[in-house]
Amino acid sequence: MSAFRFIAPLSFVVSFVVAFAQPGAAADPVRGALLYKECAGCHAPQRTLMGPPHCGVVGRKAASIDGFAYSDTLRAAGFVWDDKHLHEFLTFPIMYMPGTKMGFAGMFDENDRDDVIAFLKKERSPDSPACQPGADPAPPPGTNTGEIGADGNASAQLPAVKVQN
Ligand code: HEC
Repeated sequence: MSAFRFIAPLSFVVSFVVAFAQPGAAADPVRGALLYKECAGCHAPQRTLMGPPHCGVVGRKAASIDGFAYSDTLRAAGFVWDDKHLHEFLTFPIMYMPGTKMGFAGMFDENDRDDVIAFLKKERSPDSPACQPGADPAPPPGTNTGEIGADGNASAQLPAVKVQN
């Protein structure tokens, strides 16, 4: 019996799985919430951290948050954030938009990006709970959230260190 009789059907099965498993995977906002942890250090729902707030970002014109110090390149973009632009930007931000201030290496896996975008559409839509008035209060002064504000300062002073005598 030739090996081919076994391998040919097997490779057919493998290519079938490769061809259909990936596009078949529906975008999953719950998995997206876990992946979004990579973004959450810099993006709050309604507050400005290092990056602009994300409420309503899908469908929003690029660089349109008043008072946020966007890079010139993002200001010049002129498009509205949709699936296509989010995929292109998030894959490799500095390649897609040289000069962007977004210090994030990139999200290379298409399914990961699909899931994060699904999260943004659902959990950062203007009518989502996180985007209601008062739902995203600033932490009390002095709280060290580990975040660096848009002004480049850390969110809180480090606690005074007691010097032992
Ligand atoms: C290290 C901080 C940092 C991380 C991590 C980060 N971002 Fe950003 N993001 C920024 C900054 C800063 C900008 C403004 C970029 C500019 O002006 O060029 C930005 C801009 C954006 C914008 C454009 C918003 C607008 O108002 O036009 C989107 C969309 C975005 N980020 C999505 C994400 C997503 C999704 C992730 C996680 C996968 C992420 N970012 C991770 C800092 C970050």
